[in-house]
Amino acid sequence: MSWSKGFVELDKTIHDRTSFDCGEVELNTFLQQYAAKHMEVGVSRTMLLSTANPLPSGKYPICAFYTIAPGSISRETLPDTVAKKLPKDPVPVFLIAQLAVHSEYHGQGLGKITLIKALEYLWKINAHIKAYAIVVDCLNDKAKTFYLKYGFDVLCANNGRVRMFFPMKAVAPLFNT
Ligand SMILES: CC(C)(COP(=O)(O)OP(=O)(O)OC[C@H]1O[C@@H](n2cnc3c(N)ncnc32)[C@H](O)[C@@H]1OP(=O)(O)O)[C@@H](O)C(=O)NCCC(=O)NCCS
Repeated sequence: MSWSKGFVELDKTIHDRTSFDCGEVELNTFLQQYAAKHMEVGVSRTMLLSTANPLPSGKYPICAFYTIAPGSISRETLPDTVAKKLPKDPVPVFLIAQLAVHSEYHGQGLGKITLIKALEYLWKINAHIKAYAIVVDCLNDKAKTFYLKYGFDVLCANNGRVRMFFPMKAVAPLFNT
């Protein structure tokens, strides 16, 4: 099935969450059970790309999604050269809290598109409220390899995950025309 034209906010009345399977139970469960609830309570936002055509039920399967949220990191986790220029308070960042592609679409460039869309979205938010970097906690080594490929650097360990970051200054050249 082909995917639709653009990323939109998750709407559980329109999008079929149950058919989503990226191969990682944790991410499937997040999308199916928590993403909409977390939007309702105002702690994160999930954007997705659906298929172009609906199921017989009228709902649209989800090809890929990303979830963003505000966050903060301790400046001590940053390289010394950067840390010394920052305030002692927690440093504001944007989190890519989740990002996944349905297994049916793996290896077709959709992961790259989804990441670029997430960066673009956060870049627009950054025009209104500033953050130092975009941060992601990698679920596994494959995810780490994926983010390394696009210029993320390892920051520290965080709850058993590898935390990676991409400074906002490095995002600017991607979208400033
Ligand atoms: C990681 C994921 C998003 C990649 O999506 P995808 O659509 O298959 O990726 P793309 O086709 O856009 O590939 C982009 C690049 O990443 C590489 N890549 C993709 N999946 C990879 C993997 N599992 N391990 C290493 N590299 C990978 C590709 O080789 C490609 O590089 P190339 O352009 O030089 O060939 C997808 O495999 C996924 O949803 N995995 C499960 C969820 C997950 O782990 N998410 C990360 C959360 S922290």
